[in-house]
Amino acid sequence: MTGALIDAAMAARERAHAPYSNFRVGAAVEDASGLIHTGCNIENATYGLTICAERVAIFKAISEGARNFVRVAVAADTDALTPPCGSCRQILWEFCGDIEIVLVNLVGKSETLQLGSLFPRPFDDSLLRR
Ligand code: THU
Repeated sequence: MTGALIDAAMAARERAHAPYSNFRVGAAVEDASGLIHTGCNIENATYGLTICAERVAIFKAISEGARNFVRVAVAADTDALTPPCGSCRQILWEFCGDIEIVLVNLVGKSETLQLGSLFPRPFDDSLLRR
């Protein structure tokens, strides 16, 4: 259910630790059994150790044994909707393939797209098989 997934991403955003950028992001990923796994961005005083909401959600889910993801929602307080960064696109592709991505802001704007359109010609394990 996309509504529940969006709500979960919004709620996760409230838990962001973003004192340096004040740019709070929430993500929620739904697995094939319907379970929702959430993440928020977590920043660090070194800046470089910051991790995005999308990767927190995926890594939490993987660490709990979840697999086979069907949809991810990303919530941010921006007029221009916030898509996953390049690093997150790689990780999402690795664990989710051409997943549906729902981008939302706080005032009801949303857009649904496929990861493949954001991340054409990915590097993945298929290229490791020579
Ligand atoms: N950020 C995310 O969590 N996800 C995105 O899709 C874009 C960027 C975070 C990283 C950093 O904490 C802050 O937003 C500003 O870049």
